[in-house]
Amino acid sequence: MPEHCPPALFGKRIKLRCLEERDAPALLELYGDPEVMRYWCHGPWRTLNEAKAAIAEAHKEYAEGSSLHLVIEHLEQATLIGSCALYGMVAQERRATVGYLLSRSYWGQGYLKEALCVLLDYAMAELKINRIEAEVRPGNMASCKALKAVGFKAEGYLRERWLVGGAPCDVVLYALLHRDWRARGEYSSGAAFTRF
Ligand SMILES: CC(C)(COP(=O)(O)OP(=O)(O)OC[C@H]1O[C@@H](n2cnc3c(N)ncnc32)[C@H](O)[C@@H]1OP(=O)(O)O)[C@@H](O)C(=O)NCCC(=O)NCCS
Repeated sequence: MPEHCPPALFGKRIKLRCLEERDAPALLELYGDPEVMRYWCHGPWRTLNEAKAAIAEAHKEYAEGSSLHLVIEHLEQATLIGSCALYGMVAQERRATVGYLLSRSYWGQGYLKEALCVLLDYAMAELKINRIEAEVRPGNMASCKALKAVGFKAEGYLRERWLVGGAPCDVVLYALLHRDWRARGEYSSGAAFTRF
């Protein structure tokens, strides 16, 4: 565990909390599903070691201040249903990139929008991030719709931005600014979402 684990963040139905070693099997199930990973920047995981290595890497990056990886837990069911992260954090520019994925049985029920609202509010209010970017493969309609629904704007089409399994892939760059978020009236002090 990192020395200072970030606080848990709460939505109505979900909780975002720090990754723990015990999450490795559930993460493998999530990142090992080829359908979930269809538009991801790398192929599905195959081994528990990949999950354990990713958790260790997340803790290292958190300690360095370059990322914040959280799992999405269903409050009532007390089960891990997804993960989300702010990564590539650049303090000087107050900028970060957001990434997320949900277990297939939880798609299409608004869980991502709920998780994004909690994470974005924390990022803007508490971490003082000014610009949050997202890179999405053009065919990933669910992801594009969810980003637009919370206020992201498409800014550009980046040709062959990713290499997935050696194959070049185009992505659409989305971004949300602090002032966009404030203008939507979503911005809070962050305190409403946080329970230690
Ligand atoms: C992207 C993802 C997290 C979206 O989660 P979700 O729970 O379906 O999202 P939400 O329920 O909040 O809905 C998002 C919107 O997309 C729509 N949607 C959901 N699945 C869709 C699909 N297959 N095709 C088109 N639209 C879809 C929803 O109806 C909703 O639109 P609305 O705002 O008009 O109602 C989920 O599909 C997922 O985990 N995908 C695999 C991982 C991934 O691709 N991550 C993103 C990488 S950039």
